[in-house]
Amino acid sequence: AVQNPDDAKNNDNKSDRTEDIECKSSANKTPLPSVSPTKTKVNNSNEHSAIGEKHDKTTGKVTEAAKEKAPVRSVINVPVNRTSEIQESRLKLPILGEEQHVMETISEHPVVILCGATGSGKTTQVPQFLYEAGYAHDVGMIGITEPRRVAAISMSKRVGTELNLSTREVSYQIRYEGNTTPDTKLKFMTDGVLLKEVQKDFLLSKYSVIIIDEAHERSIYTDILIGLLSRIVPLRHKKGSPLKLVIMSATLRVEDFTENSRLFKIKPPVIEIESRQFPVTMHFNKHTPQENAYLNEAYRKVCKIHRSLPEGGILVFVTGQQEVNTLCRKIRETFKSKLSDTKNKAVKEDDKESSQMKTKIPRVQLDDYSVLPEDDELSEQDGAHGNNQSDEELSEPDDDDTFDDVSREPGDSQNPIYVLPLYSMLPTHKQAKVFEAPPAGHRLVVVATNVAETSLTIPNIKYVVDTGKVKTKFYDKVTGVSSFKITWTSKASANQRAGRAGRTGPGHCYRLYSSAVFNDEFELFSSPEITRRPVDDLLLLMKDLNIDKVVNFPFPSPPDRLALKAAEKLLLSLGALEPPAKPQKPTRKSQRAEMDNPSARISPLGRAMACFPVAPRYGKMLSLGHQHNLLPYVIALVAALSVQELFVEIGEPPIDETEKQAWKNRVGKMVMLKKTWAGQGQSALLGDLMVLLKAVGACEYAGCSTDFCFQHGIRHKAMIEIRKLRSQLTNAVNSVLPAANVIMDPKMAPPSELQAKLLRQIILTGLSDHIARKLQEPSTGTNEEKKKLKMAYQSIHLEEPVYIHPNSVLYKQNHEYVVFQDITETSKLYMRGVSVIEAEWLPVFVPHGCTFSKPLDSPPPRYDSSSGNVLAHMTSTFGVRCWEIPAVELE
Ligand code: CDP
Ligand code: MG
Repeated sequence: AVQNPDDAKNNDNKSDRTEDIECKSSANKTPLPSVSPTKTKVNNSNEHSAIGEKHDKTTGKVTEAAKEKAPVRSVINVPVNRTSEIQESRLKLPILGEEQHVMETISEHPVVILCGATGSGKTTQVPQFLYEAGYAHDVGMIGITEPRRVAAISMSKRVGTELNLSTREVSYQIRYEGNTTPDTKLKFMTDGVLLKEVQKDFLLSKYSVIIIDEAHERSIYTDILIGLLSRIVPLRHKKGSPLKLVIMSATLRVEDFTENSRLFKIKPPVIEIESRQFPVTMHFNKHTPQENAYLNEAYRKVCKIHRSLPEGGILVFVTGQQEVNTLCRKIRETFKSKLSDTKNKAVKEDDKESSQMKTKIPRVQLDDYSVLPEDDELSEQDGAHGNNQSDEELSEPDDDDTFDDVSREPGDSQNPIYVLPLYSMLPTHKQAKVFEAPPAGHRLVVVATNVAETSLTIPNIKYVVDTGKVKTKFYDKVTGVSSFKITWTSKASANQRAGRAGRTGPGHCYRLYSSAVFNDEFELFSSPEITRRPVDDLLLLMKDLNIDKVVNFPFPSPPDRLALKAAEKLLLSLGALEPPAKPQKPTRKSQRAEMDNPSARISPLGRAMACFPVAPRYGKMLSLGHQHNLLPYVIALVAALSVQELFVEIGEPPIDETEKQAWKNRVGKMVMLKKTWAGQGQSALLGDLMVLLKAVGACEYAGCSTDFCFQHGIRHKAMIEIRKLRSQLTNAVNSVLPAANVIMDPKMAPPSELQAKLLRQIILTGLSDHIARKLQEPSTGTNEEKKKLKMAYQSIHLEEPVYIHPNSVLYKQNHEYVVFQDITETSKLYMRGVSVIEAEWLPVFVPHGCTFSKPLDSPPPRYDSSSGNVLAHMTSTFGVRCWEIPAVELE
C-alpha cells in the first residue's frame, strides 16, 4: 500500500472567509487577514513540521528574527464569491486546513517551500489564498509558473472559475499567447515566459509574489528561475518592495533548494501538506517483459482489468505519442463492437482521420521506404486477438497472479470503453477531454505519457497501468547529437504514477515489471533537466543578464562543465560572445581569478541575438537577415525550425497487409509533396528548409485550415504555433532593428533564386558547426564497409559517419557540403533539416573555422574600388579535418 487515506478530518463545518474588506497594518500584529472562527480553529500548525521555521507555532506570533524579514504591508481581506459547489469541493482538499499556517509562513518568510502530493490542492488553492490575503490587491500581481503549457492554461481557467473571476483577472501567458490584461491579478505562465520577463525587468517589479509550481520536475527554466529569484528576492527587499517566493513541489525531495547555501542564505521553511491519498495496492509483475514487449503487456493488462474488475477509470503510462496512439487504436479495435451511442463517434475521430487518409491518397508504388526504425509494435500474436470478445485471455496461463488480489465482477465486462489519448503535442481541446466525464456507462481509459504524472489530475482513475518506462532525450555534451532512449523511470516518478490511482478512492497500480527490477534498476529520482541538455541558450541569457561568471551562478544543480564549455565555444563561434580581454595592469588577485575562470563577455551581436526567443543559432540568422528583403523568409524559417515537428509523424508500418499498403501510399504522398515543395534550382538546394518555407506559405495561403493541414500531413497545432511565433519574431526584429520595418505577410511569395541562395548563406552562419562533407565511397574493402560508407557524410565533430535522414528531401542525393539542423541517433546517426552549401562560402562566412594560406602561384593582391578593400587569393582548409577549400579572393 502507498499511503493511508486521510478521511479523518471533518471539514464540513468550515465556512468561507468573511466577505468584508478589512485593512490592517500587519507590522506589529499577527499578519493575517481576519478569518472566521472555524477557520482559526483549523490552525493546527503544531502537527505539521515546518523545518527551520522562525516563528512560534503555537501562538502564531512572529518571533523577533522573523519580524526583521517580514515585510511591512497592509493585509487586505479580498472578498470572493465562490459557488457553493466549488466551496464544497475545495473543502475536501487537504491544503484547505493548512491555509492559516501556509499564509503565516509566507507572511513571515521571504521564501517558502511547500510540499504536498499531487492533488492536495497546491496549484489551485495557494494562488487563491494569496489573492484573498490581498497580495494582488494593489501591490502587484501573483505570478505562477508551470513547466507545461497545458497546465498554465487549464489551471488559470480552473482558478478563475473557483474565484468566480473573469479571464481579465485570472489570466495566462504561454509562449505565443495569453489573455492577460491590465487588470490581471493572477497570472499563470510557463517558466520560460517568466524567464523572458526577467530579461526585460530583472526585479520583476510587476509581481508581489512568484509561485514556482512543480519544482520537483526540475525543468531547466524552473531551476534557473529559482537561482535568479534567490538574488531578486533580497534585492527587492532592499528596495522596500518585497517579493515573496513560494516554491511548490509534489515530492519532499527539496534538498537542492534548502541545503544549497549558495542559493538561499537563510534556509527557507518547508511546509509539508499532509496528503489525502487513498491506499493504492501495488501489483508487480513476477517477470519483467522483454525489452520491446511492454506496450503489448500494457494492452493485455487493460483488457484484463476491463473484463474482470469493477468499474473505475484506467490510466496507462507509456513513453511517447506514437505509443499512445498505437495503444489507443488497439484498445478501441478490441472493444469496437461495444461502441454504439452517438457520443462514441467522437471517440473514433482519430480513426476517421486515418481512414480518410486511406481513401484520398493516390496510389504511389513504393518498394522500400522505411521512415522510422521499427520498435514497440504489438506482436503478431496479439494483433490476432482483434475483436475477439471471449474471455480467452482470462483463462490463459499467465506469468503473474496480480488479479488474484482483486475481487471480480464478471458482469462489468459488458460495459463499453471510452479511450482517450493524452500527450503534450495533442491539440489542447483534445487534451481537455480527459477532464470531462466519459459517456454514461463507459469505462474511461486514458493512455498517457508522463504528462499525466503530476501536473494534471484526471478524475476518477482507479487503476494505473505503469510500463515503468520513460522516453528521454539524451544529448552528447560535446557533439550535441541527440537521441531518444527509452529507459526505466525513477522510483519517485513510478510512485507519482501509482498515486494517480488513489485520488478518489482506494485504487490499484499494475506495475509491468518485477519488484526486483524496481528495487535494483530504478534510480531514486530522475536527474534534473539542466544536467541533461545543451545550455547555449541559457548561457546567452545569463550573459545578457550580465552574469559573466556563469560557473558561480547559484544553480540548484549546476550544469555539466563540459556542457557549459561546449555552449561557450558555440557562442564564441557565433560571435555572440567576445573572448575575455586580457587585463591591462592586473592585480595579482584579479589575474589569478581571471586565469582560473576566464569569462567571455557578451558582444553587441549577442545582445541582439538574446532579444529573440529562439535558440542562439537561429538568433544569429535573424540578426543577419536584414539584407535583400530576406527577413520575412528568415523569420518564417526560424519559426518553423523552432517549433517541434511541423509534419505529422507517419509512424511505423502496420502489420496488417491492407493497412500497410495505405501506409505506404501515405508515405509516398508525403515524399511527392515534399519534392514538389522543394522545387528546382536554388530552391531545391535549400532542401528541407525550402520544404518548411513552402509548407508554411502554402498553409497560410489556404487559411491554415485544418483540412489543408490534414491533407498535407501538417500538424495543425504546430502550424498555429509557427504563425504566432512569426508574428512575435517580426515584432522582436522590428524592435531590435527598427530600420528593417518588416511587415508580416503570412502568405509570403516564394523566395527568388537569388534570395534562396542568400538564405543558404544565412543558414550557414547560424549552423556553422553543423557542416558535413560527403565521404568518398571506397573502391576497395569489404562489401559491408562499402555499404556503410555509401551515401555517408563526415561531420565536423564526429568520428562516425553520418547520413541524411530518409525523411529529408535531399535523401539519396549527391551534394558535397551540407548543413543540418540536428543529428539524431536511431539506427544510424541521421542529419535532419538539411540544406546544401558551397565550399567557397566557408572562408567567407565561417572564417574562424578556416586556416588560410596564400598559394605560391596566386595572382598579386588587387584593390577593389567598389568595396575599398584589398583582395588576395587565398586557399584554406576547414575544420579539424582540414577539408581543402578551393582558392577564393578574400579581404
Ligand atoms: O497542485 P496539486 O496537485 O496539489 O492539486 P491541484 O492541481 O490544485 O488540484 C486540486 C484538486 O482540484 C484536484 O482534486 C483536482 O481534481 C481538482 N481540479 C479540478 O477539479 N479541475 C481542474 N481543472 C483542476 C483541478
Ligand atoms: Mg499542481
